[in-house]
Amino acid sequence: MSRSTAAPKAPVIVPVHSGARLAVRGGAPVSANPVPFMSTALSEADIAAATAVLKSGMLRQAARCAELEKRFGEMSGARHMLTCANGTVALQLAYEALVEPGDEVLVPAWSFIATVAMVVARGATPVFCDALPDTMQVDPADLERRITPRTTAISVTHLYGCPVDIDAVQMIAAKHKLRVIYDAAQAHLSTYRGRGIGEFGDAVTYSLYATKNLATGEGGLLSTNDPGLARTFGLLRSHGETDKYLHERVGYNYRLNDIAAAIGCSRLDRLPEQTAARREAASRYNSMVAAVDGLEGPATTPGAEPVYHLYTVKLDPARFTCTRDEFCAALKAEGVPTAVHYPRPLTRQPALAKFAREPLPVVESLCRRVFCLPMHHDLGAEHFRVVGEALAKVAAAYRA
Ligand SMILES: Cc1ncc(COP(=O)(O)O)c(C=O)c1O
Repeated sequence: MSRSTAAPKAPVIVPVHSGARLAVRGGAPVSANPVPFMSTALSEADIAAATAVLKSGMLRQAARCAELEKRFGEMSGARHMLTCANGTVALQLAYEALVEPGDEVLVPAWSFIATVAMVVARGATPVFCDALPDTMQVDPADLERRITPRTTAISVTHLYGCPVDIDAVQMIAAKHKLRVIYDAAQAHLSTYRGRGIGEFGDAVTYSLYATKNLATGEGGLLSTNDPGLARTFGLLRSHGETDKYLHERVGYNYRLNDIAAAIGCSRLDRLPEQTAARREAASRYNSMVAAVDGLEGPATTPGAEPVYHLYTVKLDPARFTCTRDEFCAALKAEGVPTAVHYPRPLTRQPALAKFAREPLPVVESLCRRVFCLPMHHDLGAEHFRVVGEALAKVAAAYRA
């Protein structure tokens, strides 16, 4: 299946600085003011919303949590949405309800550790799958190859805010009777074939960590379209309590509180507009990156509408005389901070390496090549100028 990088909206003129001395070697930087890598500031409305809860004294999970669940559920296409303490426990709740100890769960080798660590915490065995080189999302063909009689579930991440090939995953799951959990910690409000990602799979989990597209500091969400599962998630979230001090099953205290939820509700008002700004920024970056031989922007899964939690570039080491890390150090000196998501695949995390059966070629290549450009809703014309000029200047200076 072909994959496409979103078409640029407007041509970006990027001056070539073939002769300019890099700031990292003592030259003048493109900008003395670094481009902010992210934008996490609270608005006055966010602060007022949290203050109103503080003044009310109702600090526990209450009406604001219920409001966040209702509104975010509607916006993401899910029938049942539950707030919880963070994205990690959202995964833990999903796995506890859907996976048994000893099961094999197909997982991406290219993700944040929580997606897989909670499989291990459940007493199940993670089976790592490779990524697609263009979208960097899990490779459905590799995933299907790894199914054994012990496989009971697939848990995959909509990485960087881009949905995986949901049609392929759902088809494999239906064929082999597997449960599906989607980790959407980075993908709030992304859609697939025009439908909210909450419509697909057995459960979808989200993080509301301070730097996420929707952020309450710490926090999480968990959705499903199955009322029975929603009840189980609710019980597990709060000590299996069905009535005051009546506990139907053993559970946890993984509740969110209304202070965090009030911030979430307030920020949800702006999330659609902020998501549009991220998409616009990605479109600008696509044309800048395409103009630099040896750099490649993130391809989009066909049918997916990403929300660009991160904008991840791949560098071709054969086209430059430097490593990815040297390229990033030079960008930073020019005023463009970057980040690497991720410096090593999960197959080589000390905590998980014992589950790795073999090196996976695509993720081994990605971890040496990727870097993320500043991405958030507050990027403006001057920021785009700095990023475009810095990319061109650094690429020209390190041209092989
Ligand atoms: C893909 C992914 N899954 C899960 C998590 C865990 O979320 P939290 O930090 O809210 O526990 C994160 C957070 O970074 C994430 O990026």
